Amino acid sequence: MAVRRLKDKIFEVGAIDFDRRLFDELIPLPEGTSYNSYLVQGSDKTALLDTVDPAKVSSLVENLNELSIEKIDYIIAHHAEQDHSGSLPFILELFPMAKVVTNAKCKEMLISLLLLPEEKFIVINDREILSLGDKTLEFIFAPWVHWPETMLTYLKEDKILFTCDFFGSHLAAAPLFVTDQPHVLRSAKRYYAEIMMPFRTSIKQHLEKLKTVDFTIIAPSHGPVYDQPEMIMDAYADWAGDQVKNEVVLPYVSMHGSTQEMVEYLINALIARGIVVKPYNLSRTDIGELAMDLVDAATIVIGTPTVLVGPHPLAAYAALLANALRPKTKFASIIGSFSWGGKMVEMLSAAISNLKVTVIEPVIAKGAPREAEYAALDNLADEIKKSHQAAGIV
Ligand SMILES: Cc1cc2nc3c(=O)[nH]c(=O)nc-3n(C[C@H](O)[C@H](O)[C@H](O)COP(=O)(O)O)c2cc1C
Repeated sequence: MAVRRLKDKIFEVGAIDFDRRLFDELIPLPEGTSYNSYLVQGSDKTALLDTVDPAKVSSLVENLNELSIEKIDYIIAHHAEQDHSGSLPFILELFPMAKVVTNAKCKEMLISLLLLPEEKFIVINDREILSLGDKTLEFIFAPWVHWPETMLTYLKEDKILFTCDFFGSHLAAAPLFVTDQPHVLRSAKRYYAEIMMPFRTSIKQHLEKLKTVDFTIIAPSHGPVYDQPEMIMDAYADWAGDQVKNEVVLPYVSMHGSTQEMVEYLINALIARGIVVKPYNLSRTDIGELAMDLVDAATIVIGTPTVLVGPHPLAAYAALLANALRPKTKFASIIGSFSWGGKMVEMLSAAISNLKVTVIEPVIAKGAPREAEYAALDNLADEIKKSHQAAGIV
C-alpha cells in the first residue's frame, strides 16, 4: 500500500481494496472500494480520521510506519460502521495513548459494536473545535448519512471537509484526487442510490447547512477525493432533489415467456411515446444498476408471473429493495401473468407501500397475453405518458 499526500502534513493512509466484489453481503462492487483514513499532523497533536475495514488493517499500519508515526493523539470516529471503525481496537493497542474523539451516539455504538472501554473516549458536541496546534478541527454533526451517529470534520486552515460515507463512492482508484469526473460521478451515484437514497430528506438539510462552510476539498472515506467539490455537491442536490425524469424503470422476471412478451410490448409502447425505459431482467441484473436508475425515474413498473399465490421471489425482492430505498418515484404499476389465481397484485402493492406513488391500473394476463392485454398495455403506456405530462417532465 502507499501513503497518498493530500496537502502539507495531511495524508491518506488507509487502503484501496481493488478485489472486493460485495459489500454488506448485498451490494455488488464492480470496481472495488477504498477505506480512506486520513492523518492530520498539527504542530502539537496528530489526529487520525477514521480507520479501515479490519481486513485491511495491515495496510493502515504499513502506511503509518512509512511515515514513521510514533504518536497518535486523537482518532476521530465519524461513523461507527466497521468498514471505518473496525480497526480501532488494533490501532488503540498500537497507540495506547490515543483517544477516540466522537459524539455521544457514536461512542455508545462503538462500545457496543467493538467492546471498546469507556475511558478511551472524548465526547464532542456539534460545532465543537479541537486544536492540533496550527491545525484546527471543527466537528459538524450530520445524522442519517447513513446512520444516526454520522458526523463530518472541517479542517479550517486547509479548508478540507472530511465527510466519511457522505459523498463517497465505491471505487478503487490509485490516484487520490478525482481524475475522470464522469466515471467518479457514476460510481458516486451508485453509492448514493444504494446507501444514501433512503435519507434524502436529511441529505437536503445537510446540503443547505454545508453552504455556510468554506471548503475547497471534500475528502470522503470511500473513493477519490474531490478538489472541485461543487461537482459532487451539485450532483447530490440533483439526486436528492424532488425533480424526476421522463423514465420508466421496469424490473421483471418471467419463467416461461408470457410476462416477457408483455414486457417487450410495453417497452416498445413506451419508446413509441417518447419515454425512456430501463428494463432489468431480475434473474441476471446487478441490483446496484437498478437502484441507480431508481434515483431519477418518474415511474416503476414491476413485471412478474404469479408463483405460489404471490409474486415471483425475485420480483418480491426488487419490490422490497425499492420500498427500502424509497426513491422519489411518483407512479407505479404491475404487469404479469397467472394461470389459476392468487394474490400477486395485492402482495406486490403491499410490498411497495413506502413509496409515495400513484398506482396506475395493473395489466394481468391469464396465460399468454392476447389482444385485450396488448390493448391494456397500450393504455398503460398512454396513462404513464399522461402522468409524466401532468408532472411537467415531458
Ligand atoms: C412454481 C410455479 C408456481 C406457480 N404458482 C401459481 C399460482 O399460485 N397461481 C397461478 O395462477 N399460477 C401459478 N403458476 C403459473 C404461472 O403463473 C403461469 O404459468 C404464468 O403464465 C407464468 O408466467 P411466465 O410465462 O411469465 O413465467 C405457477 C407456476 C410455477 C412454475
